[in-house]
Amino acid sequence: MKFKYHTNINPTDSLFSTDSLNSFLRLFKETINDEKIGFFHLTDDQNHLEKSKEIYSKHKDKKYFVQIGIGGSALGPQMLIDALGKDSSTQFIYLDNTDADYVYDEMAKINPKETLFYVVSKSGSTAETMASFAICRQALIESGVSESEFKNYFVFCTDPVKSDLRDLAIDQGFDALDIPSNIGGRFSVLTAVGLLPALFAGIDIDKLFEGANSIKENLMSDDLDVNELTKAAAQISHLLVRQGINQTILMPYSSKLKSFSNWFVQLWGESLGKYSQELKQHIGLTPIPAYGATDQHSQMQLFMEGVNDKLLFLIEVKNKSHDYKLDNTIGKSSASKLNGYTINQLIEAQLYGTIEALKERERNVIHITIDNNDEYNMGRMVLFFESLTAIMGHYLRINPFNQPGVELGKKYAFEYLSKLQE
Ligand code: PA5
Repeated sequence: MKFKYHTNINPTDSLFSTDSLNSFLRLFKETINDEKIGFFHLTDDQNHLEKSKEIYSKHKDKKYFVQIGIGGSALGPQMLIDALGKDSSTQFIYLDNTDADYVYDEMAKINPKETLFYVVSKSGSTAETMASFAICRQALIESGVSESEFKNYFVFCTDPVKSDLRDLAIDQGFDALDIPSNIGGRFSVLTAVGLLPALFAGIDIDKLFEGANSIKENLMSDDLDVNELTKAAAQISHLLVRQGINQTILMPYSSKLKSFSNWFVQLWGESLGKYSQELKQHIGLTPIPAYGATDQHSQMQLFMEGVNDKLLFLIEVKNKSHDYKLDNTIGKSSASKLNGYTINQLIEAQLYGTIEALKERERNVIHITIDNNDEYNMGRMVLFFESLTAIMGHYLRINPFNQPGVELGKKYAFEYLSKLQE
């Protein structure tokens, strides 16, 4: 991963002093050394890979894979499969909403008897997930599968200790993979939550871990000229505090990384959108998903000339696996000016042209380049953005690992539900 900062910062600002950068780093190291926070050290434990492979080998002939989960239990796996999924004979379905019409359409695509249903919930009790679980059980029963055979069709992934799903697995003999207690949903993509579906999609999960582990040295480096995490955190903090830049766009120039933006939105939004008791302030860096070049014809006008309150992460994938020559005999200048070029050169020109234009409009851009869209680089990007989220949480004086605001809505939803039976 290479980083280029096109940001309107004042390098002499105290936020960029050695003391300030060192304190970012110190706080980050304190966080990842706290045993209640597990995301950084997760990939040191090969057991996660082994356990997922074990379950995969039991069920690898299944034709359909249904991911039952919501939030981090769905966005991470979907992101991995969209970005890295190879030709695989497995068809993936995501039941991540309580929308009956959507569920109907998705269930119509599968034959339950040829399906592995992967029920994923850290808490083991999320209403949306339990609802989909109930519907899938019923679909199996209607296909003639008895409850005693369910363990051939369901695998759970949940907290190892405290969870209804864990209790069910123990009572009824289901296979259950672990989401370690010190890892929350939006930080769980490199646990079995993402690893098991990744195996079904032909993704090399060892390489994901290798990539994540390879960036750790940089993220913890005391050399402040080298450490991209402290550099990025200081820049974002400067933009927020000194210039009121409080929206963050993640825009990979790649359709395959479109879901990566959605994954980032949950990570950044749910972690950093909080009330800081310490600062007595509501804060957040509202994330906006985008992808290029497509969004150049949609949101880019807003990014370019709307309120200047946004930071753009633009992600470039240097080498694509395929290319097309654009030579043509269409006979119109709009098409003939493409002669001699390839589609990869075109998207590259679109990205670099956009960066120039954004700079001219004094917009703030962090340009990240990865060599290839592959497992190794994905592992690196995941750990970089998870670490950046953690460090920003500390800077903003909030806990990036909880989500108290979500709970209130759940409480009222259940109150509403109980009134329906009165
Ligand atoms: O990041 C989080 O913790 C949440 O968004 C969860 O992923 C989401 O609420 C689903 O929770 P669970 O995995 O407990 O079903």
